[in-house]
Amino acid sequence: MKILLVGSGGREHAIAWKISQSPKLEKLFIAPGNAGTKSIGTNVEISDTDIDALKNFALAREIDLTIVGPEAPLALGIVDVFVETGLSIFGPTASAARLESSKSFAKDVMKKWNIPTASYKAFQDPEKAHAYLENLNYFPTVLKADGLASGKGVYICQHKSEALSALQDIMVSKVFGDAGTTLVIEEFLEGWELSAFAFTDGESISDLVAACDYKRVGEGDTGPNTGGMGAFSPPRIWDQNLKDQIRDLVIKPIVEAMRTDHEPFVGTIFAGMMITETGPKVVEFNCRLGDPETQVILPLLGNDILEIFESCVNRRLNSVKVDWRKDASVAVVLASGGYPSAYSTGYPIDGLTLGGDSVNIFHAGTKLDEEGKIITNGGRVLAVNALAPDINQAADVVYENIREITFRNMYYRADVAK
Ligand code: AMP
Ligand code: GLY
Repeated sequence: MKILLVGSGGREHAIAWKISQSPKLEKLFIAPGNAGTKSIGTNVEISDTDIDALKNFALAREIDLTIVGPEAPLALGIVDVFVETGLSIFGPTASAARLESSKSFAKDVMKKWNIPTASYKAFQDPEKAHAYLENLNYFPTVLKADGLASGKGVYICQHKSEALSALQDIMVSKVFGDAGTTLVIEEFLEGWELSAFAFTDGESISDLVAACDYKRVGEGDTGPNTGGMGAFSPPRIWDQNLKDQIRDLVIKPIVEAMRTDHEPFVGTIFAGMMITETGPKVVEFNCRLGDPETQVILPLLGNDILEIFESCVNRRLNSVKVDWRKDASVAVVLASGGYPSAYSTGYPIDGLTLGGDSVNIFHAGTKLDEEGKIITNGGRVLAVNALAPDINQAADVVYENIREITFRNMYYRADVAK
């Protein structure tokens, strides 16, 4: 098969790496890719949101299947455009991707289908939101921009004054642009946070896999939120009972809700979950694989990933048994110092040699300079992953391998999976 993979992060390098193991693969293109994907396929200089150019490329190269990594092209309707053109593509339509691109849409679906989540109210009028907050007596409370905000649109407010200032940011100053036209105010959930993933063809769902993500930049979960500084799988509280609960209370009903009331959701459903004292509750849905969760879960996947993608697109996922290995997997992100605020790039990276068969280095913000040397090219630069029989061993192997890698201003959290 000729495959086009859309995206350029660590998630996409991990997907490309997994695709490269498939006996079905004839040729792999990545748009736009990074230095890591370039070593296993052909990078194509097209932005992941330039849908027309991607479509024209897929037509010209007779691509058999396109796989979309990030949320932005999905929300822009890449799947709708490809399907109208007769091209095969793995991912949800823009309408189905509203589960991620509109938090109020996701909340309304969850409410109608009794999917456990934080109680909430949505506002389009800043004055009404203001009046509601003035009368609110429960803190912390959570304010969210409705639309896509690169993981930055969530404010956990400890006091009324913080909530009013978050309202000002989101709805009045519009720091997230139109994503803040609608505001969601919701109950603060306490518990263990984890991300649960399943592949779906719109009707059947695969066996679930879960990971924990480190969102804050600083050790001990301090500092601003990032795209994710590390991850591990399985979560320490993950067992058959919890998996069954999340499947039956969350994943099955959301897939059924989308098929019945909206458009079938085909792709990867990603449920951000809080495991509270009263059971699992949804924090958010995403319409894609997570980054850096993908860098820990794909090394655990026992199947040919192209067979899974194809069976979802052809609505016959029930013919494939998705097999997640029982090992533990850890990934630590190496970032450019300063991330998620301002940082510099263009620094050479040394020490990219693997210490063992169960170790992977997934590239994110990397590229080749004119001499063919790998240099930094983003906030999150690399993720080092290792598999082992338990989480502590896997974390030790990751940190041993990190010692070999150097680039100027390199920063990472030393407490991932600890
Ligand atoms: P999101 O962008 O929706 O993933 O939110 C970012 C992070 O904010 C989540 O991963 C949670 O850690 C936190 N968060 C979001 N909503 C809630 C909530 N209702 N209660 C507690 N924490 C939340
Ligand atoms: N790591 C969180 C996300 O991909 O949204």
